[in-house]
This record gives sequence, structure tokens and C-alpha cells, in this order.
Amino acid sequence: MSERTLVLIKPDAVQRGLAGEILSRYERKGLRIVALEQRNAEGSVLDEHYAEHVEKPWYHELRDFMQTGPLLAFVLEGDSAVSIVRALNGATDGRKAEPGTIRGDFSISNQANLVHGSDSLESAEREIGIWFPEA
Ligand code: TYD
Ligand code: MG
Repeated sequence: MSERTLVLIKPDAVQRGLAGEILSRYERKGLRIVALEQRNAEGSVLDEHYAEHVEKPWYHELRDFMQTGPLLAFVLEGDSAVSIVRALNGATDGRKAEPGTIRGDFSISNQANLVHGSDSLESAEREIGIWFPEA
């Protein structure tokens, strides 16, 4: 079934010049880019996006990290897009993520882990509404 999911290429990936490599992995897998924008994330947008985490002890550090530079926000579309992006991204902690995944290949951090992908269809709909309210 065709789905849409919200993806972020985080500031660490953009700064390290990995945006093209990461984007091409999603494209080569067969997902279609629906909307794409480079953004400097506002704190209020991040608080909405990470609503489930704002009370966590590490949230303020994450919020600062997400504002260390521009990020790429985009929507990917395709069969099972939500779970496919999560699989390509790998486990949250880059030190534990499997080789062959984006985080497993390029991250050794639990915070600077290069990418975000919606964790469910419901989250995808909510997050697309936050980053692309016109979509
Ligand atoms: P989470 O939703 O658990 O991971 P995922 O991105 O795989 O869905 O956490 C959201 C982001 O918060 C995660 O990508 C990186 C950051 N984070 C930290 O900075 N410290 C932590 O201890 C955890 C668990 C996450
Ligand atoms: Mg999550």
C-alpha cells in the first residue's frame, strides 16, 4: 500500500556532506521524493515534532543539536514507505545500528544519528502536517 513518511536529514549529515549519499539510498530503494526543503529548524517546530520527547532529560541537548545548521526536510512516498525508511535508517544509536544501514554505516552517536523517519502512519501524518502544512 502506498504510504507517505516524513524524513529529516539532520544537521550533522548536511555538515558532513552526506546528504546526497543518504538521499540516494532512499531513491535507489524506489521511494519517490514528494516535497523537499532545506530548513533552519525553529525551536517551536522541533518541540512539536519531538512532542513525545520534550520532557526527556536529553531533549534540550537534542534541540540545540538540531539547530546547529540547516537540515533537509522531505516527504517520501511508496509502498510501505514508513517501515522501509526505518529499516534503511537503522537503530537509533549509531553504535548499535547494523552495518548497511545509514546510521550503522556513518554514525557512532545516539544523538548525532543523521536521520529521522516517522515511526508509524499516524506519526507520519502528524509530522508531515508540521513540516509541510500546505501538503
Ligand atoms: P527516538 O524517537 O527514540 O529515536 P528514533 O529517531 O530512532 O525514532 O529519539 C528521537 C531522537 O532523539 C533520536 O533520533 C536521537 C535523540 N536521542 C538522544 O539525543 N538521546 C537519547 O538518549 C535518545 C534515546 C534519543
Ligand atoms: Mg522516534
